[in-house]
Amino acid sequence: MDYLLVNGGKRLRGTVQISGAKNAALPIMAACLMSEGQCVLRGIPSVSDVEHLSLLLRQLGMRVERQEDGALHMQVVDEGNSHAEYELVRKMRASICVMGPLLAKRGVAQVSMPGGCAIGDRPIDLHLRGLEALGADVQLVDQGDILCKAKTLRGAEMFLGGHFGSSVTATCNVMMAATLGQGTAVIEAAACEPEVKDLADFLNVAGAQITGAGTPRIVIEGVDSLAGCEYQIIPDRIEAGTFMVAAAITNGELVLENCRLEHMIGVTHKLRQIGANIESNGDKVTVSSARHLEPVEITTQPYPGFPTDLQAQFMALLCLADGNSVITEKIFPDRSMHVGELGRMGARLRKEGPTVMVEGVKRLTGAPVMASDLRASAALVLAGLIAKGTTEINRIYHLDRGYERIEEKLAAVGANIKRVER
Ligand code: EPU
Repeated sequence: MDYLLVNGGKRLRGTVQISGAKNAALPIMAACLMSEGQCVLRGIPSVSDVEHLSLLLRQLGMRVERQEDGALHMQVVDEGNSHAEYELVRKMRASICVMGPLLAKRGVAQVSMPGGCAIGDRPIDLHLRGLEALGADVQLVDQGDILCKAKTLRGAEMFLGGHFGSSVTATCNVMMAATLGQGTAVIEAAACEPEVKDLADFLNVAGAQITGAGTPRIVIEGVDSLAGCEYQIIPDRIEAGTFMVAAAITNGELVLENCRLEHMIGVTHKLRQIGANIESNGDKVTVSSARHLEPVEITTQPYPGFPTDLQAQFMALLCLADGNSVITEKIFPDRSMHVGELGRMGARLRKEGPTVMVEGVKRLTGAPVMASDLRASAALVLAGLIAKGTTEINRIYHLDRGYERIEEKLAAVGANIKRVER
């Protein structure tokens, strides 16, 4: 298994190209199951989650080809198999995104129920509630599979709020299914994340009639079919946020290209409080930091609040602030496996329920550490960039799920980081 070696202490300087958003790419790729023609997607990142979904989509009868110019060409060639099996679903929870499109287009979807993962239980009740509201018959069948069937889906008004607020992929799944339903569907308490809006924009280019995406009320007028189309996906706001922290933690200066600050208001607000300077010129954003980092309080929230997907990275940054910070995780209360690993590097952290008290220290020290999930891995890389000595980050297959060549991008702006194959 590959690992990363990081020697800390280098100030990062230079330009980083931000990739397309993984969490926009995955539902949009799944939505191509509903199209009658070829879809050409631009900006889909080369990360292992995309590879896994491509494998699943091929099993479901889609031709998926990466072109030399980076575009992904996708076209359904065989609708015979509508079963997403455990083997692939267990590797990637976002496989659940095929459920809505399969049901809408083929009238049947059998999808292995995704289990919990390192960041918590992750139920799918909201996905199922929304599909049932559209008229689907949903059953748990053999081998932990969920079987959804519907001759016709019919528009309905529904409330998709849950115990932890709205759900991104449930909103995506239900919105996709309603696109090919009859009549008008209204989703209340819809997730407002930019990735949901991007999916709706893609569907509308392909012929759907969706309004309100990006707000808590989405209205979908069902259409008979979707055509092939070309589409460019949005930049990855979480990758951009990760590089912003890289600039701030190393007291460096990075220019991020292909960065949409309007998707990052909750993040830039905190970063400025911490003491970073952020300036933008179109989609070019410059981030630099003063030596002094202020402690802050962070609570993760649904968009436009501070994203859970940057909680771990900001924890790494706040380890070096001049005072005590408080971080509360409200989306995935168990998303804290990085706490123990950062502790191995000299961080002073105390966890109480979903809250972590961060006592700022003068320095972190390199250590062998273990990545537990995608964003926790990124936090360990960031901590390694400033730690004294060498940090060895193991299990980086988590990192490869969602960051495109992160060690190459970091090395190109001055980090001392390398991937070791074993
Ligand atoms: N929830 C339910 N019932 C459901 C679905 C979700 O109670 O049916 C709860 C979850 O347990 C959680 C909250 O609702 O407490 C929000 O979860 P959500 O469904 O929004 O998460 P997701 O759609 O499974 C996406 C991203 C995650 C990101 C979350 C929150 C994709 C493929 N994944 O997951 O990304 O953390 O939204 O923004 O879009 C990552 O990229 O590292 C990642 C984990």
